[in-house]
Amino acid sequence: MLAPMAGITDWPFRLQCKRQGADVLVTEMISAMGLLQSPKGNLAYKHLLSFHEEETGLIAQLFGKDPAMMGEAAAILDALPQYAGIDINFGCPAPKVTGSGGGSALMKDLPLSRRIVASVRRAVKKPLSVKMRLGWDPSSVNVIDFAKMCQDEGADLVTVHGRTRQQQYSGKADWAMITKVREALDIPLIANGDVFTPGDALDILSVTGAAGLAVGRGALGNPWIFREINQALSGETPARPDPDTVLKTALAHLDDMIAFKGEYRALIEMRKHFAWYLKGSPGAARTRALINTTEDLDALRTIVRSHFEVPAH
Ligand SMILES: Cc1cc2nc3c(=O)[nH]c(=O)nc-3n(C[C@H](O)[C@H](O)[C@H](O)COP(=O)(O)O)c2cc1C
Repeated sequence: MLAPMAGITDWPFRLQCKRQGADVLVTEMISAMGLLQSPKGNLAYKHLLSFHEEETGLIAQLFGKDPAMMGEAAAILDALPQYAGIDINFGCPAPKVTGSGGGSALMKDLPLSRRIVASVRRAVKKPLSVKMRLGWDPSSVNVIDFAKMCQDEGADLVTVHGRTRQQQYSGKADWAMITKVREALDIPLIANGDVFTPGDALDILSVTGAAGLAVGRGALGNPWIFREINQALSGETPARPDPDTVLKTALAHLDDMIAFKGEYRALIEMRKHFAWYLKGSPGAARTRALINTTEDLDALRTIVRSHFEVPAH
């Protein structure tokens, strides 16, 4: 599964991951309040709800702290045919979200979180999943109680990122703790945190016994990780993509982004993706600097091509 990432998991990126074998895709997080209160036709929400017809197994992720609003927004998403299920975000560490009591801050308030899950469950006919961290900080790790609460309120699946809110993305994800959560539940669990290679994927599955795994940062500029994980799972030796494949994928991603957001936004938004596609290849820093200063799409394509193309002899 491709883990939800705000600012990243829009359909042009999800499509690359789908084509490389990600079974389940998750949208960027969608604010319940924003969905309900933004003017009809609001571009940001039009973008958040956009999808590509190849995207099967697409899950909409919702966040918010008001149970009634969460239910109302979930009903809207549930009725949209592009979504195979709804996910509730209890993991976001961003101060903008936790500052007002949302995202991972809700893990500190089990009764309110229970009302949110119950309200969304009543509103949603499709499968419902819940994504969470281990807890707020090391002294308040409550993921087992939290996940059980979700199960009691009718969630079909949970995804656990093996870090507390306080850790943000630092330290190592605690896979042993994910195992304890899995053991305490009857519903399936997706393990998440620090899968960067096919070997990590095999390890997280064998350590946790999870039903599946979610990859976030490991997929940045690297949608091939899903193909490689599937190869490793079926006992094959995972094959890294050659430079020509990386080039073609990066340029197809750019074209999709242009179709999605127009030329100017695509130029800006693709800078980070190109930096990730370049990562680890010779001359990456120089090419990245060129990409970040060009304002012209044809020049951008030329820069990327000359970085990846092997000179003819
Ligand atoms: C840039 C970025 C944005 C993220 N946005 C979301 C989000 O919108 N919803 C969510 O549940 N998690 C979000 N996450 C957390 C990831 O889904 C995932 O739980 C976390 O990155 C750990 O997995 P990884 O080690 O495979 O990256 C985000 C992570 C990153 C790096």
